[in-house]
Amino acid sequence: MKVLVIGPGGREHAIIRALLRDPAVDEVHSAPGNAGIASDVSVHPVDASNPEAVTNLARKLAVGLVVVGPEAPLAAGVADALREAGIPVFGPSREAAQLEASKAFAKQIMAAANVPTAMARVATASAEAEEALDTFGAPYVVKDDGLAAGKGVVVTEDRAVALAHAQECFAAGGTVVIEEFLDGPEVSLFVLSDGRSVLPLAPAQDFKRIGDDDAGPNTGGMGAYSPLPWAPSNLVDEVISRVAQPTIDEMACRGTPFVGVLYCGLAMTSRGLRVIEFNARFGDPETQAVLARLRTPLGGLLLAAATGELDEAEQLHWSNRTAVAVVVASENYPDKPRVGNRISGLDDAEALEDVQVLHAGTALDDEGHVVSAGGRVLAVVALGDGLEEARELAYKGVNLIELAGSQHRIDIALKASRGMVHVPSASTRSVSLDAPVSLDASVPTGATVEGRLL
Ligand code: AMP
Ligand code: GLY
Repeated sequence: MKVLVIGPGGREHAIIRALLRDPAVDEVHSAPGNAGIASDVSVHPVDASNPEAVTNLARKLAVGLVVVGPEAPLAAGVADALREAGIPVFGPSREAAQLEASKAFAKQIMAAANVPTAMARVATASAEAEEALDTFGAPYVVKDDGLAAGKGVVVTEDRAVALAHAQECFAAGGTVVIEEFLDGPEVSLFVLSDGRSVLPLAPAQDFKRIGDDDAGPNTGGMGAYSPLPWAPSNLVDEVISRVAQPTIDEMACRGTPFVGVLYCGLAMTSRGLRVIEFNARFGDPETQAVLARLRTPLGGLLLAAATGELDEAEQLHWSNRTAVAVVVASENYPDKPRVGNRISGLDDAEALEDVQVLHAGTALDDEGHVVSAGGRVLAVVALGDGLEEARELAYKGVNLIELAGSQHRIDIALKASRGMVHVPSASTRSVSLDAPVSLDASVPTGATVEGRLL
């Protein structure tokens, strides 16, 4: 089978490496790719968010499967165009991708499907925003309703900062979702779906903030690890039965079946499992860690999802080793990253046993040197026997890589390796979470939606 992978990032590089390990995949192409992807497979300079251009490329290459990585092409209808052309595609339609593209839509679906999530209000003006902030109290959570690459969310104790973020979104013509703060550790669980059946991958944890100890602003993600030694053993079953299957069923029932990966961003709170957000694609950098452990051939799985045959897929096989991914980002990320700096040491890091260097924002300069070309530049992914060993190896790789001004967190998976990640117990629950709310699945402006309480 020939496969075309759409997207330019680290997630796509991880998907491509996994596809190359699949004996049933004999050729992989990518558009537009990056410098690392280009050294593994053929890349094509096609605009990933142009449905016609991507469809023409898939036709020209005569691929048997297209995998769409990022959210922007999905929201632009790339999967719809491919499906219309009769080309098997792993990725939801534009309508189904609304689960990620609109947080308010996701809240409606969750309310209709009884999926547990944070209580929330939609606001379009300052007065509504202030009322919502005061209803939920601190810490305040204010989210831009549209796509913002993980950077549209402000979580703060400072009411003025929360309100200022809402006002910025209004000034740009947007809407915000204001919601209750969810305590407890976060989990990312990727669930493959063919529109009806679901198949979970292994859970991972992401590190969203730029700085160690979760300091500073949110980013697209600065590192990840999998599996989660601290997670309850029924976690995946619970997410499937309470979150993923009901959501997939609700989407199918509305005539907009979700085909692709439903990324369940979850908080393990003192009141039980809650959905923080859905994404309509694989997470980055969690995918880099999760796929490093997947032993089942990926191409067959994604094709089964694309063609409605996921219920026939074999049981997944995983390495029992631990994967840790550490992201190296450009100077000044996530603000305005400095790009165009040369990167060295990539081969030395990649030469370490059980280490992969997966490229994200990289390109080649005129002389053929790899240079930084984006905020998150690459991830070093290591497999080890346990978190401590995987961490040590990943950082050994990171320390071999040189990029002027680069940043990385030094505490990826550190707390988990020390047994310091805990799901809060009900006795530590915050009183403000019990604020009474009404349930309204239509989510008009100012309405409140609520996930089912446990
Ligand atoms: P989102 O774009 O919705 O995933 O939000 C980005 C990040 O903001 C999440 O991964 C969390 O770390 C944080 N966050 C979002 N919503 C909440 C919430 N209700 N309570 C606490 N933290 C949140
Ligand atoms: N790692 C977070 C995301 O992909 O949205």
